[in-house]
Amino acid sequence: MRPLRKTCLVENNTSILPAVQSLLPQLGREDTAAIVTHLPRLKARLAHLSAAMPGMQHSIAIKTNPHAQLLRTLVEFGYGLEAASIEEVRRAKAAGCPVNQIIFDSPVKTRHEIAEVAYEKGMLVNVNTLAELKRFPSDATCILGIRINPQVHAGSPEMFDVSKNESKFGVPISQQSDLIQAALNYPVNALHIHSGSQMQNLDAQKEALIGLREVAIAINTQSPGKINTLDIGGGLPSEPLQAQTKMSIYGAMVQEVFRGTSFKLVTEFGQWVHAPAGFAISAIEYVVRPDRVFIHLGADFFMRDAYTRARPFPLAVVSAEGVLRQGEERPFDIAGPLCFAGDYLAHKKNLPGDLEENDLLIVDETGANTYALWSRHCSRTVPSYWAWDGNSIVKWSERQTIGF
Ligand SMILES: Cc1ncc(COP(=O)(O)O)c(C=O)c1O
Repeated sequence: MRPLRKTCLVENNTSILPAVQSLLPQLGREDTAAIVTHLPRLKARLAHLSAAMPGMQHSIAIKTNPHAQLLRTLVEFGYGLEAASIEEVRRAKAAGCPVNQIIFDSPVKTRHEIAEVAYEKGMLVNVNTLAELKRFPSDATCILGIRINPQVHAGSPEMFDVSKNESKFGVPISQQSDLIQAALNYPVNALHIHSGSQMQNLDAQKEALIGLREVAIAINTQSPGKINTLDIGGGLPSEPLQAQTKMSIYGAMVQEVFRGTSFKLVTEFGQWVHAPAGFAISAIEYVVRPDRVFIHLGADFFMRDAYTRARPFPLAVVSAEGVLRQGEERPFDIAGPLCFAGDYLAHKKNLPGDLEENDLLIVDETGANTYALWSRHCSRTVPSYWAWDGNSIVKWSERQTIGF
């Protein structure tokens, strides 16, 4: 475990302690937990993405964090949005995203949904199967793309690996002649891949990018200029703000693969952008000696972590007055509030041994795939949502009940 205080005290420009100290006096009796977006970190992340992959359209995956104000913020910063459902398309439009910066990627679009987007001029709509192409009118004004399964093994964990041969996502690249024929027969102008989330193997991803480029060139050889847009998806795992080497390496790789071509390149990152740009705090409700604390965020907020494997979130504890606990550390199990045995954020994590009831646990780097996956289990309300701009903290949304 990386103790949080090393990041938050040493790194002044990304410290979260001032944000926590501004937040605490504003919390009400019901606010046993709160969720925060850290805007300076978000800006830093986006700036690094744009520098690593210049001249490309970056549409950030809504599914990673769909908070309405966060989407508006991304749009204000000049970024597009990638939608995995028609509901997300509507969220993107409500956030003010220009239609030509929206990508629609649902694998199961209905005829009604297709009718809703077909004449959205410039929206990139990627079909998941060749059968889906038949549902689009021949005079559609959206940009029609075909999702290709690159059939590489980019090292994503099993649950997030969408490029296996039997994947439900995209047309297998091995069916190249069908793909080329379909692109020639329909008003297709784009191709898309997303090899999987948390890719570990960039060499395999390079193969996928080369495959994508070669299919596009093969189509354009028969019909010059037919494919003009290539969407390379997202999939890079998060990495620390202090050393964003993976994105630099990946950016250089993408530029190398497409050097000398004139395709418009589009990306759809989620986790890499959002993960470090948020944190959460929870009251420590009970301290059960010798080694267990109970908090107010469990499998409802940390859904993936409780049900699969917990991410190594940096942790710290402050007193109710916002003073960092610095006592000698010892291992604790961190139990959530839900009524089932697996509801733990983590086991055997070092926390300061002098922590007490009413202290607050700070869980850092929770910006991705947490709030977005909020679970109704046990009907607990969703915590209030805040944003820190480096100087002050503002409330983006109230604590809320989810309708059933
Ligand atoms: C089609 C598509 N694009 C982009 C993403 C974002 O992926 P990541 O958060 O790994 O960057 C996903 C994630 O599931 C996806 O399915």
